Parts: sequence; C-alpha cells; structure tokens
Amino acid sequence: MALWAGRFKKEINENVNAFNSSISFDARMYKHDIMGSIAHASMLCKQGIIDEKSLKDILTGLDEILNDLETGKLLFDPNAEDIHMFIESELTKKYPVSGKKLHTARSRNDQVALDLRLYTRDEMKDIKQMLIDLINVIIEQSLQHTETIMCGYTHLQRAQPITFAHHLMAYAQMFYRDITRIDDCYERMNVSPLGSGALATTTYPIDREFVAQQLGMSGICENSLDGVSDRDYAIEFANALALIMMHLSRFSEEMILWCSWEFKYIELDDAYATGSSIMPQKKNPDIAELVRGKSARVINHVSSLLTMMKGLPLAYNKDMQEDKEALFDAIDQVKLCLPVFTDMLKTMKVNTQKMREFAAKGFINATDCADYLVKHGKAFRDAYKTTGELVAYCIDHDLVLETLPLEVYQAHDKAFDKDIYEAIALETCVNNRVVDGGPSPEAVKKQIQKMQKKVGAL
Ligand code: ARG
Repeated sequence: MALWAGRFKKEINENVNAFNSSISFDARMYKHDIMGSIAHASMLCKQGIIDEKSLKDILTGLDEILNDLETGKLLFDPNAEDIHMFIESELTKKYPVSGKKLHTARSRNDQVALDLRLYTRDEMKDIKQMLIDLINVIIEQSLQHTETIMCGYTHLQRAQPITFAHHLMAYAQMFYRDITRIDDCYERMNVSPLGSGALATTTYPIDREFVAQQLGMSGICENSLDGVSDRDYAIEFANALALIMMHLSRFSEEMILWCSWEFKYIELDDAYATGSSIMPQKKNPDIAELVRGKSARVINHVSSLLTMMKGLPLAYNKDMQEDKEALFDAIDQVKLCLPVFTDMLKTMKVNTQKMREFAAKGFINATDCADYLVKHGKAFRDAYKTTGELVAYCIDHDLVLETLPLEVYQAHDKAFDKDIYEAIALETCVNNRVVDGGPSPEAVKKQIQKMQKKVGAL
C-alpha cells in the first residue's frame, strides 16, 4: 500500500507504478535524504512540534537505515515510488508511532528540492577536486616545455611560433574558469528550500533558518513557490559540466591530431591507448575519442533540462522528476572523463624534435619578418606586402625565409641586412614575445606561477 493510499479505493496499476517510480535513479540520494530528515526532525523537536522520544526514535531509525543501506543489509525496494517514500516507510516499519511523525510540516516537493541540492553540492566538491588535479598535471607538463617551440595555428593553418607550455596553459585557464563557474553556482544553490512544504509552507511554527544552518547552507529560499519549483541550480551546474566537456573535447581533438602519424607531436602511454582487432600496427587514442564523443550527451542534457522546465506552471510538476537522470548522467560522464583524461595527459610523451621540425616549415615567422621592416621605418601594410612577396618567392623556389639569400631580401627592400636571419629565428620570435599572456618562456613561467598560486589557494 502506498503511503498516500487513504484517498484511493484501488491499488495502483503495476505498470503505472513502474512508470511513476524514480527509485531506480534517485536511490543515489539516500544519504542526502537522510541528512535532510535528520535536520527536519531535529527542528520539529526544537520547536515542540514532536516530542523528544519521537526524535530519538527517528534519529536511531534513520541511522540504522543508513548503516543497513551502506552494508547492503537493506536493499532498495524497486517497487517503492521514490527514495523519499522508501526511507520513510522503512522508518515507519521500525518505529510505527514515531516514524509516522517525520513528515509533519514537510512535503516531498520541498524534500526532493533539498535532497537534489545536497547531492549536487557533494558532486560539485568532487568535480572541483578533479579539475584541480587536471590543472596540476597541465602545470607539471607545462613546466617541462616552457622552451619547447611549436607551431601555433589559426584555421588549423600554420600561424606563428609559440611554446608547448603556452599551448597547454591555455587549457589550464579554461579549466580554472570551470572551477570558478562551479563555485558561483554553488553559492546560489546552497540555500534551503525545506519548509516550503508542497507549495505554501505550513501552519506549524517551523524554524527554516535552523534547518539551513544544520545542513551548512547559507540561508533559505525566500519564496516557497520558487523553493519547490526552482531547478536553476541543476541547469547551471549541467551547463558548467557541459563547458567542462566542451573544453575536454577540444583538448581531446588536439591530442588525437597530435598522436596521428602525420603529426607525431606526442605519443600516448601504452596503458592509455588501445589496439585494433585487425590492424596489428594500430595504437588508437580511444580515451580522447570517447571523451569527445561523450561531450555530446552532456551538452544535450542542458538542453533537455531547459526544455523540460520552460513550460511548467508554478509550482511543482511531476515533469521535474526528469531533472535527475539528465543531471546525474552529466555528473557521471564528467567524473568518468576527468580522471582518465588527466592520467592520459600525465603519461604522454612529447616529441619536442618533431614539434621544432614542423615549426620550421610553414613560414610562421613571416609576421616577424614584416615587423623587422617596420622596425626599420616601413609602414606595416607595406612591410606586410613585401613579406608576402618574399613568401611567394620562397614557395616558387622551394625555400624558407631562413634559407632565402640576402640578395633576394635586399632586392625586395634595401632595409634588409644580415641580422634578418637572427630576427626571424623561431627562438627569437618566441623569446621576444614577452608581453603578459604570451608564448615566451619568461611570460609562460609567469603565467604558470599565477595559476599555481590561484589553484593553491582553492
Ligand atoms: N520523485 C519525485 C521527484 O523526483 C519526488 C517528488 C514527488 N512529489 C509529488 N508531489 N508527487 O520529483
């Protein structure tokens, strides 16, 4: 019999019960449901709404249930409507008189809103730590490669020389922003909806602030209708997760390119790559591909959540039960991807020679050649045109700017002298970009230090 059976003359249809039930996925909030109930019951007793004996029974019962669930002595009942009903009915089995008092001045609507916040809060802490671990590995790799020259791209066309550390640290910036986004979302989310009741609070003299304090929350939802029907935090967090996946996916895409036979910039550790069932020579970057693939579903969860919410009238509607699978899957995927990606990055080998070799082709020092003329008094547009003509000449004669004879330079512009070769050496191009945020070893080291300080302070 369902806990709400009083009004009904028939048992629920079996298929409807299965259709309606959320225990298969909301069971994972059992700890948070119990936490919330402990705070609620303690408040009821403090306010004289239930007596000391009832509180004692409730607390003992909840503690036993928690223990039994954790040791596997108690199994979730797949026929239960949801985790809230399941725990309450288990409590009532143990303490028939006191257990029935727990739900005084509470509805599942404010209960589930609270549980999901508490659950999300814990997951935020875990994911934040995983991001910190990833940033630390990026820093570790970057420190090895502040002098490693590589080709920087725009439009995936060779553009200008940078350092590998500079490239890697761009991702550290993205993942750091992801952390701050989670922090932001945490701040807004960490308030208690409990006491909102079904939608219109209650006539009992409850103390909502006390409950919030017990749960380490910074305050209460100020409007009960909003309290039970707000899922912004789920959407915000899913959005933060989608951004993490988008960043991981871009990084994965580059790793996939870099370990291709065409690039060979990196080699994945054998333990972080896979083979082919037919081609004996293959070493495939499956991890990076799966991360890139999984980003699609996490991104889609944001849109599912927004679409699910957008037409709902106030206050609670059962549609909102659909929030959990989307959010939980987004969380699960990110928690699967982050650690394995971090280890893949930590164990990869970098082929600095190949990077240097590739950087030497593609005229990535052409901007610096034009800048040389500017430093000798030419207007940038004229210098740009002359350099373009030199590049065209090189292409026609199978040369690069480094091997182009001085006479040819001078035939195009008298300002060229033999120090042009020094000016366009890739090391010079990189080392001279000392501007904050730039690729020079000096600037990147500064960037790394700042990041170490920020991450250290978390
Ligand atoms: N399982 C439900 C959910 O996730 C709990 C709230 C049910 N409330 C109700 N009025 N039926 O949304």
